[in-house]
Amino acid sequence: MNIKFSEIYLNSIKNPEEFWKKVSDDIFWFKKPTKILNQSNSPFYKWYEDGVTNTCYNALDVHIDKGRGDRTALIYDSPITGNKSKFTYQELRDKVSKFAGGLQNQGINKGDRVIIYMPMIPEAVIAMLACGRIGAIHSVVFGGFASNELANRIDDSKAKVLITASCGFEPGRTVEYKPLVDEALKLASHKIDKLILFQRPDHEVELKSPKEISWEESLSKAKNVDCVEMKSNEFAYILYTSGTTGLPKGIVRDIGGHIAALKWTMKNIYNIEENDVWWSASDIGWIVGHSYIVYAPLFKGCTTVLFEGKPVGTPDAGVFWKIISDYKVKSLFTAPTAFRAIKKEDPEGKFFSKYDLSSFESLFLAGERADPDTIKWAEKLLKVPVIDHWWQTETSWAISSNCTGIEMQKTKYGSACKAVPGYDVKVIKPDQTLAKPNEMGDIVVKLPLPPGTFPTLWNADQRYKETYMTNYPGYYQTYDAGHIDEDGYVWIMSRTDDIINVAGHRLSTGAIEEVLSEHQSVAECAVIGIADKLKGQLPIGLLTLKSGVEKSNETISKECIQMVREKVGPVAAFKTAIVIKRLPKTRSGKILRGTVRKIADNEPYKMPATIDDPAILDEIKGDLKKHNILN
Ligand code: COA
Ligand code: AMP
Repeated sequence: MNIKFSEIYLNSIKNPEEFWKKVSDDIFWFKKPTKILNQSNSPFYKWYEDGVTNTCYNALDVHIDKGRGDRTALIYDSPITGNKSKFTYQELRDKVSKFAGGLQNQGINKGDRVIIYMPMIPEAVIAMLACGRIGAIHSVVFGGFASNELANRIDDSKAKVLITASCGFEPGRTVEYKPLVDEALKLASHKIDKLILFQRPDHEVELKSPKEISWEESLSKAKNVDCVEMKSNEFAYILYTSGTTGLPKGIVRDIGGHIAALKWTMKNIYNIEENDVWWSASDIGWIVGHSYIVYAPLFKGCTTVLFEGKPVGTPDAGVFWKIISDYKVKSLFTAPTAFRAIKKEDPEGKFFSKYDLSSFESLFLAGERADPDTIKWAEKLLKVPVIDHWWQTETSWAISSNCTGIEMQKTKYGSACKAVPGYDVKVIKPDQTLAKPNEMGDIVVKLPLPPGTFPTLWNADQRYKETYMTNYPGYYQTYDAGHIDEDGYVWIMSRTDDIINVAGHRLSTGAIEEVLSEHQSVAECAVIGIADKLKGQLPIGLLTLKSGVEKSNETISKECIQMVREKVGPVAAFKTAIVIKRLPKTRSGKILRGTVRKIADNEPYKMPATIDDPAILDEIKGDLKKHNILN
């Protein structure tokens, strides 16, 4: 039993170069690599160092070369606007190569950075691929982030061009991007050269300066351009993710490893072949969207669905089943929160029975721990395997999963299954020794990480080394804690830093605290993530005030909530800020956030030995109860 999987897995760990050489033979190279792994400058490993390739060529041109240009590459379905369209590989390549020419006309060349701040429309995918075509480095910023976050990313990436759209559509609300972009450009100290704006039908906005041009205008003098040759270790993109401070970390992806690893995952993890239809219901602003709406399915040459909508309310809790049925989707990948939302609206699965889901073979969940109740509910309804798998922006593909294309493993509810080939996952205890099966500790991955993971942080080699590779020399520290059981199943239990997961969106409580402490009446604050039935976690803010403040507590709370919405963005879902007398601290002044979280979630906690004043915990409990925050 499971011999095939364990053999492949062990081979990948014992003979990584042989394993990844074979994988790389399956992608297109202008020049095939002869050096598979350079380990001379640990922890900065280089995969396929002397290889020369191109991301866009592997996503589009290669399939046309093979005579598959008529195959549908992208299906766009927007229940929010009622728009639908399809693009073959040939059609998508033509659009991408033209827009790439337009970018070149704006002075964009190899290595230049381009920010993409767009809703889920085909033009966003076209912009990403066009960057790859000419060797520009894109940085997609999620539309739910506000101006301040966008400005941070403009400054850090020093982008030359920003591509946006006239608006996005959220249920009941139009997201006006232009004012958000204008504000970000004002806040950023780095100045971009050009803004390219896609005018959405029936929602055009005015462009005011020669620096601002429309998408159409950028195409007017553009010629179709070919793919440029890129070295394997040049960068494909930067994707910023939450760090422990307000300054996000620029995760970078090198080109050759990204193509090879992601293409490999489509068959081996997801069991997807060239003629299948695949759907990842996420957003291109998150890693799941980068890897599995855009790159991996296109590298594989299958059909990918781009969905502009929500699991519920656009128009109802049956929309996921409708998309699967309309396009004969074989597998869906989304966050557990999406299924919790559907379960809440339609626990009996009444909508489900209206659709033919005979094409559907598996559901993959990631982004947060999939709670067993949701998995069992989905299994009962869908009658297909429901697979929880674990990964991070840093890795861009799953660290642990049921590799359905190699050999199906049995489900253990609450576990994200076994380490995927390429990842030597271990657990280290606080005393720095390796944990035995079932012992809890920090989850780490032995170096080198496989191809497609992050070779460094954008312009921050030292931060990369210090943050991820220093506490456990020779290992990558994932900042997740948990255990591995006697069968090799990985159990992810919690984060070990101040990252919280809100509806599958990764957020830093530190970044929210930075905003709150800017309020003129706030003396100190703490943000904690408390358990929420729908979104997994929700941030709540605890505030203490400076003396002599005249405003009411209610006014200050409202102002703080508004500040977080404006500075971090609506996606933070920050709706609760309460004023309290004092925060519990250790004698050395460290705020006991973990203890407060346990109190709020009604979990057992130990009185911290170093607490300054034990009575304060009862006081906090009373405050949380008064505001209906106790879970
Ligand atoms: N642009 C602008 N605003 C956005 C946005 C975007 N792309 N995405 C979300 N927002 C806003 C929402 O409009 C909402 O604003 P509001 O406070 O005015 O209502 C806020 O951010 C929170 O959004 P969201 O987390 O989507 O919550 P929700 O209550 O609207 O919906 C779910 C809840 C569960 C349906 C939704 O979170 C969901 O579909 N999750 C899927 C998970 C997912 O895709 N995760 C990505 C990683 S895999
Ligand atoms: P992101 O970088 O946004 O993908 O978030 C990565 C983090 O999400 C991980 O470090 C985990 O804390 C959490 N996560 C992702 N997938 C899972 C999973 N299947 N089970 C538990 N936690 C997960």
